[in-house]
Amino acid sequence: MKRISLFSPGTIANISCGFDVLGVALDEVGDIMHIEETVEPGWRISAITGADLPLAVEKNTAGVAGLSLLNAYKSKVGTHPGFHLVIEKKIKAGSGIGSSAASASGAVWGLNELLGRPFTPLELVGFAMEGEKLASGVAHADNVAPGLFGGFTLVRSYAPLDIVALPCPNDLYAVVLHPQIEIKTQDARSILKTQLSLKQATTQWGNLGGLIAGLYTDDYGLISRSLVDVVVEPIRSLLIPGFDELKKTMLDSGALGAGISGSGPSVFALAKGSDQAHLIAQAIDVNYRKWGIDFEVHCAKINTQGIKILNE
Ligand code: HSE
Repeated sequence: MKRISLFSPGTIANISCGFDVLGVALDEVGDIMHIEETVEPGWRISAITGADLPLAVEKNTAGVAGLSLLNAYKSKVGTHPGFHLVIEKKIKAGSGIGSSAASASGAVWGLNELLGRPFTPLELVGFAMEGEKLASGVAHADNVAPGLFGGFTLVRSYAPLDIVALPCPNDLYAVVLHPQIEIKTQDARSILKTQLSLKQATTQWGNLGGLIAGLYTDDYGLISRSLVDVVVEPIRSLLIPGFDELKKTMLDSGALGAGISGSGPSVFALAKGSDQAHLIAQAIDVNYRKWGIDFEVHCAKINTQGIKILNE
């Protein structure tokens, strides 16, 4: 019987100026998943460690995403082998670093490998988005796409789905502070305004274009100037204790830019080089203690590979 073990990375969605369209994958932070072909037909989740999440496939993001892929496979081929899944959750739900996306992406990627890669990466994004829909009510792709493609991705269009894999400067690192409070993506979306002024839109798309140009040209100065969010951060930052001071500490410690990771509460900074990233990590580790909230700090190189096989 075939089996696969894999690492499915955490991701930072939005990256300040790209709400719902930009995302990047992280090294070191991610879920571990094991998928095995079984004699019995069907698709089951047999165990989840590290989080209290439902085992019923229809109620689990990995379950729903996998089901969507297996149904598509069945439509093509007429049947599918049985599989079961074990998830070692390492990313907390409601953390803002793509917990639901890591599970959904890992499930579809692993199943696709075991089935002999019948689906393209773009199709896998579509299946994984079903998991995101279950988790937050919205099938956003800005966490699952970087998880599946690796590096930075742009969702150029949702209908039809069009994902652009972006280049990543070699020396780019991310630092993420995760306050141990939960913010549900659904709640963080419900407080957003549905209309923008033309001035906000102009600022935002100027920065989005600037950030992408900076990634293509390894221009850290341009990346730095472009990490600005005038649309979402002013509203969502109110949900994150100590956000303004945390962001200032990151910038004062040499971050290229800083902002809310996905829908929060995690806050990220991008940095040039491992040394700078570690300096930022140390500064926020000292500075954030005053808030009396447990927190974790992750310091990770950008993951350009995406999901990684662990048993080969
Ligand atoms: N783009 C999504 C949001 C990401 O900000 O709601 C959630 O991880």
